[in-house]
Amino acid sequence: MASDDDSRIRLDGDTLVVEGPVVLAGTIRPPGDKSVSHRALLMAAIAKGESRISNLSTGADVSSTMRFLKCLGVGLQSREALVVVEGRGLEGLAEPTRVIDCQNSGTTMRLGSGLVAGLPYLSVLTGDASLRRRPMDRVAVPLSSMGAAVNTSPGGVPPVMIRGRRLRGIEYELPVASAQVKGAILLAGLAAEGRTLVKEKYPTREHTEVMLKALGASVEIADGEICLEPSEVLPFHAEIPGDISSASFFLAGAAMIPNSTVEAENVVLTPVRKRFADILVSMGAEIVCDCRGEVLGQSFGTLRAQWNGSLGGFSIGAREIPSLIDEVVILATAACLARGTSLIKDAAELRTKESDRIAALARELSKTGAFIEERPDGLLIKGVNGPPVAAEYDSHGDHRIAMATAMLACASKGVSRVHGISACAVSYPEFVSELIRMAGSDHFYS
Ligand code: S3P
Repeated sequence: MASDDDSRIRLDGDTLVVEGPVVLAGTIRPPGDKSVSHRALLMAAIAKGESRISNLSTGADVSSTMRFLKCLGVGLQSREALVVVEGRGLEGLAEPTRVIDCQNSGTTMRLGSGLVAGLPYLSVLTGDASLRRRPMDRVAVPLSSMGAAVNTSPGGVPPVMIRGRRLRGIEYELPVASAQVKGAILLAGLAAEGRTLVKEKYPTREHTEVMLKALGASVEIADGEICLEPSEVLPFHAEIPGDISSASFFLAGAAMIPNSTVEAENVVLTPVRKRFADILVSMGAEIVCDCRGEVLGQSFGTLRAQWNGSLGGFSIGAREIPSLIDEVVILATAACLARGTSLIKDAAELRTKESDRIAALARELSKTGAFIEERPDGLLIKGVNGPPVAAEYDSHGDHRIAMATAMLACASKGVSRVHGISACAVSYPEFVSELIRMAGSDHFYS
């Protein structure tokens, strides 16, 4: 990561030091979308033939999926910005010879569980201290009813032990809105006997089903239902569009910080993933969206956000939360600077993420001067209608809390610090150097 002792933004060990206010100005091209990258790798691994994937996510989570696949004997080679995957079909996957460490990546563990559930092997999946606290019974239950023998540790947490079997398709209504659980069941359904039907009450990210369809699998996607017949997928060449969730910090930052303008080029713009931008617009932010094309069935294009000084509050609940699950962090952060009250409810799921995000946000956001009420299922926020107080923030070891509080640091007047900023490497290792590059002048406040 870049650092320069004289600059308004610098690194001091694992602490980001910001002398605010820092205006954000410029264009970012974030690395490949994390969710699309995981799935592209998994699908390339089970296709028959060579796939070439460029602009994969550079985050540590996607490296966990690459390691996961190597443990199953998949040939993966990185050639400069390109990853070449030698797919030999599902039957070409080998039994892992050791425990697979998914590190911090819940997506690797949950989607990976679906992949190995139909293989006649024993797989044991574990992770770091944060992942070992996260619920895995939500995949163990449906995969067991498909016929796999899946055991978790007491409390439904990792390690997860999976004895794969010949599976049968199921009809399953998701009790917890989760794209990872949906994806695990669909990946397992590829090799199951009979059709697999997944029903969801509210839309979660749609990457698994859309990508399966684009790669030739027999999938029907209707309102709230995905129906899959046993299928093979085709190898492919694709450039992964940029990560809209990574871009969301800079885009919301532009809406929060006077005189800022940020353009995020070449980012995923599927209907579910761009929902957070709709919420920012409903708050009064100025955001323009321009779709440019599709890759693996996923729309991508440009989002441009410009400060206009008119952020108000918002209210989101069960219908919106699943589609914004990773962006609630930055939306709650923006709410602290807005005029009026914001309400986030039906979001208890946030307590099961890389950190307990409701508790972490309540603690960090109360440092801004905003009124924060922590509730079992969300937050009530009364914004300060202006810049936040400069503060000492803690990332709680969570990449999204690290990046959101960095935006607060840029918005405040005075010196703020974000301790544990290196957590951002889980999804966006280039975050700090991009922030330094985007930092402009402070003429609005002075
Ligand atoms: C993801 C789904 C979401 C999200 C995670 C990535 C995915 O998790 O929080 O960062 O790629 O499917 P859930 O499925 O647990 O909601």
